Amino acid sequence: MKNPIGIFDSGIGGISILEKLKQLLPNENFIYLADNRNCPYGSKSKKEIISLSNKNCQKLIELNSKIIIIACNTSTTNSIKKLREIIDIPIIGIEPGLKPAIQYTKTKNIGILATEKTLGSKLFFKTLNQNRIDDIHIHEQIGYELVNLIEEGSYSKQNLYKILEKYLVPMINKKIDCLLLGCTHYNHIRDIIEEIIPVDIKIVDTVAPVNKRVLNILKSNNILNKSTNKRTIKIYYNGKKLSGNYLDQEYYLKYLEF
Ligand code: DGL
Repeated sequence: MKNPIGIFDSGIGGISILEKLKQLLPNENFIYLADNRNCPYGSKSKKEIISLSNKNCQKLIELNSKIIIIACNTSTTNSIKKLREIIDIPIIGIEPGLKPAIQYTKTKNIGILATEKTLGSKLFFKTLNQNRIDDIHIHEQIGYELVNLIEEGSYSKQNLYKILEKYLVPMINKKIDCLLLGCTHYNHIRDIIEEIIPVDIKIVDTVAPVNKRVLNILKSNNILNKSTNKRTIKIYYNGKKLSGNYLDQEYYLKYLEF
């Protein structure tokens, strides 16, 4: 099936997911919506997040998407249940990855950096409780300011380093041995995060499991694109023009009302 895979995020965060997906699925066409006019989602109400996420899904359906990937932890944790009730194509979301972290930790201390609304969501709370093992400590930190800075791309490395140190050093002092990046925007600053955390702290991969699910769903629904024609990857934004080194030559970039 030639129809594109639809992806959305509040901005550029989910492009880190698209980067991996386009390698895994070289024949697939993609449409990515960066809702940067409404970024950040992380401080909005659940109602607003559901409404924005639904608007993005409706646009992706209008553009003939065969499945939808919510490349945003905030949107997934606050809206995926509702979206699945009203939308009848497969929807795959991304979550912070608590389960693998709980299985991995030896020091029984896990750090998580995410948006306010992800950490405060029912889904996160439920996953936490379902997997909770009494002697494991989860150290949560809201990444205040980070999404805006990453989105604007106007930060100095020194400034970002200082902010991240403030968030990460207390977790490091609590002896975490794994860190969850619970917001897709943070993948874009992973190199700075890695400079701050000791090498023996593992950053849990939350992208690979999503990609595996996408592949499984495409296969089981028999909707893989078998055509070997040159594929297209379209990125639409509805706010400020996107620019940055995360934008591949292959991307067709355009403003769109949605
Ligand atoms: N990339 C989104 C996430 O994974 C961004 C959150 C925001 O817009 O605040 O949560």
